[in-house]
This record gives sequence, structure tokens and C-alpha cells, in this order.
Amino acid sequence: MATSKTIAVILFLITLVKSSNAAENATTQPLAPAILIFGDSTVDTGNNNYHANANFKANHIPYGVDLPGKVASGRFSNGKLYCDIVASKLHIKELVPPFLQPNLSDAEIATGVSFASAGSGFDDQTMLLTKAIPVSHQPTMFKSYIERLKGIVGEKKAMEIINGAIVMVSAGTNDFILNYYDFPTRRLEYPQVSDYQDFVLKRLEKFVKELYNLGCRKMSVGGLSPIGCLPIQITSKLTRGISRRCINSENKDAVLYNEKLQKLLPAIEASLPGSKILYANVYDPMMDMIKHPAKYGFKETRKGCCGTGFLETSDMCNSGSKLCSNHSEYMFFDSIHPSLATYTHLAAVILFLTTLVASSNAAKKATTRPLAPAILIFGDSSFDTGNNNYLPDANFKSNHIPYGVDLPGKAASGRFSNGKLYCDIIASKLHIKELVPPFLQPNLSDTEIVTGVNFASAGSGFDDQTMLLTKAIPVAYQPTMLKSYITRLKGIVGEKKAMEIINSAIVMISAGTNDFILNYYDFPSRRQEYPKVSDYQNFVLKGLEKFVKELYNLGCRKMSVGGLPPVGCLPIQVTSKPGRGISRRCIKSENKDAVLYNRKLQKLLPAIEASLPGSKILYANVYDPMMDMMKHPARYGFKETKIGCCGTGGLSDMCNSGSKLCSNHSEYMFFDSIHPSLATYTHLAGSSYATLSKLLDA
Ligand SMILES: *[C@@H]1O[C@H](CO)[C@@H](O)[C@H](O)[C@H]1NC(C)=O
Ligand SMILES: *[C@@H]1O[C@H](CO)[C@@H](O)[C@H](O)[C@H]1NC(C)=O
Ligand SMILES: *[C@@H]1O[C@H](CO)[C@@H](O)[C@H](O)[C@H]1NC(C)=O
Ligand SMILES: *[C@@H]1O[C@H](CO)[C@@H](O)[C@H](O)[C@H]1NC(C)=O
Ligand SMILES: *[C@@H]1O[C@H](CO)[C@@H](O)[C@H](O)[C@H]1NC(C)=O
Repeated sequence: MATSKTIAVILFLITLVKSSNAAENATTQPLAPAILIFGDSTVDTGNNNYHANANFKANHIPYGVDLPGKVASGRFSNGKLYCDIVASKLHIKELVPPFLQPNLSDAEIATGVSFASAGSGFDDQTMLLTKAIPVSHQPTMFKSYIERLKGIVGEKKAMEIINGAIVMVSAGTNDFILNYYDFPTRRLEYPQVSDYQDFVLKRLEKFVKELYNLGCRKMSVGGLSPIGCLPIQITSKLTRGISRRCINSENKDAVLYNEKLQKLLPAIEASLPGSKILYANVYDPMMDMIKHPAKYGFKETRKGCCGTGFLETSDMCNSGSKLCSNHSEYMFFDSIHPSLATYTHLAAVILFLTTLVASSNAAKKATTRPLAPAILIFGDSSFDTGNNNYLPDANFKSNHIPYGVDLPGKAASGRFSNGKLYCDIIASKLHIKELVPPFLQPNLSDTEIVTGVNFASAGSGFDDQTMLLTKAIPVAYQPTMLKSYITRLKGIVGEKKAMEIINSAIVMISAGTNDFILNYYDFPSRRQEYPKVSDYQNFVLKGLEKFVKELYNLGCRKMSVGGLPPVGCLPIQVTSKPGRGISRRCIKSENKDAVLYNRKLQKLLPAIEASLPGSKILYANVYDPMMDMMKHPARYGFKETKIGCCGTGGLSDMCNSGSKLCSNHSEYMFFDSIHPSLATYTHLAGSSYATLSKLLDA
């Protein structure tokens, strides 16, 4: 997907810049010439301070209490806003000043400003109440900005800056709160919220086109947040005071609006040559924070840190208000606005913005350099790029068509999919190489060895008993292969350099699914010993821990360990349960088990990391992205998520040259009855790359 790709690209750039020692001074080089901000209070860095009539102002403490100098700059939060954080990550500047600030320096002008105004919206009627600067007036401010910019850098350079600037647009929430839900002034005209949404989106489209006409090319447009979960919305519904549940209907509206916006933006982009216009998803990351507060260190997501947390915003959050003691534990700072902690998490998720940067030449040059010296892969068929081809006894082999049908030359390389695997895609994103060869391939060149290989084996698992059935190379044996790899590597580059390569190599581990399928669910050979799946999980995780420590002892430092996929939704698991043939519903109990296992793994890995000095060990979440694909197939271009593309979609190992093949492989989430298609691996690599890239910084 565009979004995942973009996330990849930006993180790429950033980590690249951070990690390459050669380019020490690249860190300080901005990734875009300027940043330009339009919208409402989520991105107003202080314009309302200079706008006499505005009803919403954050020019008083405790706003800004966590900014340097504790200044109430006009930002509606305790610290930097999302757009400041992005500007900083792009190495443009630390804070984006408001355009209305009277004493702006030339340097501030040249690197961009914010035109946003708290209380603003796309619907001009929204401003009757707030007296903010309407979004529709912001292009006029932008025009006078451009005049000033031309005066500073000249006409030609000014247009280059505008063309290359990262433009962020964030508005819409006020239109719905102030014109529809809480003050239903627009309801008479638009009894159905869907019609009012279309009205707002028309205005948004007009606005984006105006920015384009003024020279903007690289734009990110934010969707709506979960409006029904904003503390003020909960408070405003009288009966919710105590339970403080979110207003589901308002959230549903926001989701619908966001879906429409996600369709609209590519259409606008297509109509504006040379433009790149991206959707910024704030809804899902914020819902995730609300659903899993602990992941983010939050103790409170239902009221703001300032005041009683129920109604306070603007004047009602003031120096007399009670303030929570730890601001980072609150998702909201006042009753509407996210805290600095939330903006920081959001910026981490939505950094795809930098895709916008990708077209700039400076960045392009940088991306061809490898981001790590080598990649080393361990695990099962989700990672095996062909080792089983060289194992006479292995029961699972994909050395025949239609496997590999979408690889260059349509070669059935031993990969269990139609094309590249997830690990190949990551290797390519890291600019290491296009395909990660299997270590057992006899004719590996020195270059292939030096840049990393794959030790995974289809049918493998952490439990050695899993291999009784599959005759794969157990995960537990893969470190032995790594040892002989290291010996060969030392022969090529010398002992010291070899250890440097191993230390900095990106190590990816994916196994576990076979243990549960082949030893517990479908062939319950381990069930007698471990009647409770939780106990068997602990046994598997012990195997995993031992394995990770062995890799560490051999020199690996940067490791990513995959969790379980939604095992109960693998086509083969659905097929194997009588009665599911027609409904093809997922096996809930197996999914629940996978979730539990993943939770344990997420606790275990930091503990292992803490016990291994100098290591960085990350959890790779495949469960949630895969569930998202199943729940929202259309978002990924999938038409079928329940059966594989190859064969009848029923049983595995029965996918061969005689099998019927689906006509469009990209419309299938699975290629055979167990293994994801290339399309799925591509989406996964996009969504997980953000995490993986943390290894580069380590
Ligand atoms: C960055 O590196 C270039 C080339 O090595 C050098 O000429 C320049 O002075 C450096 N800039 C800074 C700010 O260090
Ligand atoms: C410009 O004005 C702001 C706000 O009034 C002030 O904080 C800042 O120090 C001033 N900067 C300069 C360069 O005069
Ligand atoms: C405040 O909360 C954050 C997030 O939960 C936590 O990381 C931090 O340690 C807390 N700070 C103090 C001083 O308790
Ligand atoms: C190495 O062997 C593989 C598989 O047997 C073959 O496809 C490839 O062309 C060979 N490469 C070289 C460099 O000989
Ligand atoms: C195949 O499906 C993908 C994903 O839905 C779609 O983007 C592509 O256009 C389709 N290709 C053909 C040839 O229909």
C-alpha cells in the first residue's frame, strides 16, 4: 500500500542519515527545504495569539508547560505539536512558528511556517462560533507569505522551496463538533451526516487545489480522529459522565468520512500533475492508544490532564486548573487536545510523510547505500528461500511451479509463495540485495556470503518434535549452520571484519506456527504432555529464548523476532475443522492462543534484551497487520482472504503444476493454503519496516 511504502521510505531516510557514519553531517541536512502547515488547533502553533477576535487561545499556562522555558506559545498542548515533531525529524527546525508572529526572521520564513488557527474548519460557518481564521482564508495568508519569501530568496528559488516543501493539512474535527454534533446548526440543512461529510470534503478538495495552484506539490491531509472518544464529546453526552464510554456513532461517522477521504485524495492527486497527496491516518493510531493504553505508557485516555478533564479547553484550562502529576500518562492534555506524548507516538506512526521527500534528489542519492552490512534469516517456510531444496528428506518443498511464478524468470526457487518473501523485501528495502539466498545453495559467491544468507527451513519450529513430521532443519540446528557460515565469512574478509558484519547484521527470526499446527492443533502429539496450550506456549518460548541467546553468543546483536500470525485464519486450519468448509470462519480459539503467545513474547523479548548487553531485540507484529487485511480486504486490493490462490485452496503440498491458479495473484491474501502471497508480504514489509528500522539506530 502507498501508506506502508511511505512509512518505509521515510524511516529509511531518517535512519539512514542517523546510522551512516560517513555522513555524520547529513544528520543536520534538512530532508525538505521547508514545512507549511494549514488547519486547526491540532497544528496551530500560535496564530490565534495574534488574532484579536479568536475565541480559543492557549496563550497561558499550563499550555506549553513542557516546552523549553515553559512558554505558553499558543500551542494547545503541554509541548510540541505533531507538526513541530515532524519538522524536527525532517531536520528542518525544532518548532514551526505561526505566520502571524510579527518578528519572524528571514530564516524562519525560508524554512516554513504555520497558517493554522485553533477553532478553524473547512466549513466557514464553523468560524461563527470560534472566530478563528477559516481554512478557506489560509491560502490568502499563504499568498502574502510567498511574496515575502520571494523578497528574501528571489522568485525562482521561492517557487522551488514551495514545490519542495512538505505541506500538512489537518482540519475537519471542529466542523463536526461545532456544526453538527454539539451545536447542530448544519443538521437542518444536512439531516444525514453523510451529506454533511460530502459538503466538508468538497471544501477540502477546493482547498487542496488552491494550494496546488499556489505551488504546493507534496501534501499530507489528515483524516478525522476518533471524535466520539474526545473527552469533551463524552462529557457533552449527559449520561456518559460516569461510564465515560466513547460515542460509537460519532466514531462510525469519522470512519466513514476517513474512508471517503482516502478515496478522494488519489482522485485529486490524479487530477493535479506532479502532485503527491497522502492521507494521514490519525484515527487508527489513536484508537490503538485508547484500546492499549499500557503499550504507550498511558494511565488515562478518557479525560485530559488539565482541570477536571471533562470540559476544559482554552480558557477553562488555565493557571488555576489542577494539573495531573505526570503529563506523559495522559493521552489528552485538555478535554480536546492530545498531549505531547500522544503527538510523539503519532509522529512515529505517521512518519510516512517523508515519502513526500523521496522525490527530492538529495534524498535519492542517499538511499542506494546499504543500511546494514548484511542480513541473516532464521526460521520456517515463511522465511525459507530455498534451503529445503537441498535437503533430500524434507517433506515440504516448493521447487516446482506455480511457486515462484512471479519471481524474475518465474523460477520456483524454493520460496513458498508466488514471489519474493518478506525477508527478501526487507533486504531490498535495506539496499542490501534483492533476494536472500539459502545457505545450503552450493555455489554461493563470496559477495552473497558477505551480505548475508538464509538458514530457515520450511516445516521448522522451536520444538524439535515438530521436525518428526516435516524432516525440516530444526531452528535449534540453525546456529550450527551459522557457525559454518561465520567460518566461511572469516575466510573471505578476515576475523575482525567478519565479527563486525555479524554484529551489525540485521537478524530476522520467524518460527512457531508449525509447532502449534503440527504438534498441538492438527496433530496433537504434544497435548498429552501439555494439556493446557499456555504451558506448551511456555515450552516453545523457552526454546525461542535459548535460540536467541545462542545467536547472541555467536555475535548477533540486532534481532527482530516475529510473533505468530492469526493461526486460526490460515486456510488450512479452517479446512481442517469439520463444518467450516462452507462458512470458512476463522478458528477463534486458535487466534486467541496466538494473541496470548504474542503477548508473552512481547514481555519476554525486552527481558532477554536486558540480559544481553549491547543487544537490540524487537518484536515483529504480524498478527495485527494480517487481521487488518482480513477485516478490510478492499484496503489492500484483496478479493479473497479465506482460500489460497493455488489449487482449491484447501490442503497444502497439493499446490503443483496441475493445480488451478487464481487469475490475479494480488487479489489473494494467501498463495497456497498456509503461505501468504507476495502481495501480503509486501504489505507486511511496509507495515513492519518502521519497527525493523529501529535496529539500524541501535
Ligand atoms: C559536511 O560535509 C561536507 C563534505 O564532507 C563538508 O564540506 C562540510 O563542511 C560539512 N558540513 C558541516 C556543516 O559539517
Ligand atoms: C519574537 O517574538 C516572540 C513572541 O513575541 C518572542 O518570544 C521572540 O523572542 C521574538 N524573537 C525575536 C527574534 O525577536
Ligand atoms: C511518567 O509517565 C511515563 C509514561 O508512562 C513514564 O515513562 C515516566 O517514567 C513517568 N515519569 C515519572 C516521573 O513518573
Ligand atoms: C548457482 O546455482 C543456482 C541453483 O542451482 C543457479 O540458479 C545459479 O545460476 C547458480 N549461480 C552461479 C553463479 O553459478
Ligand atoms: C490485480 O489485483 C490488484 C489488486 O487488487 C490490482 O491492483 C490489479 O489492477 C489487478 N490486475 C489485473 C491485471 O486485473
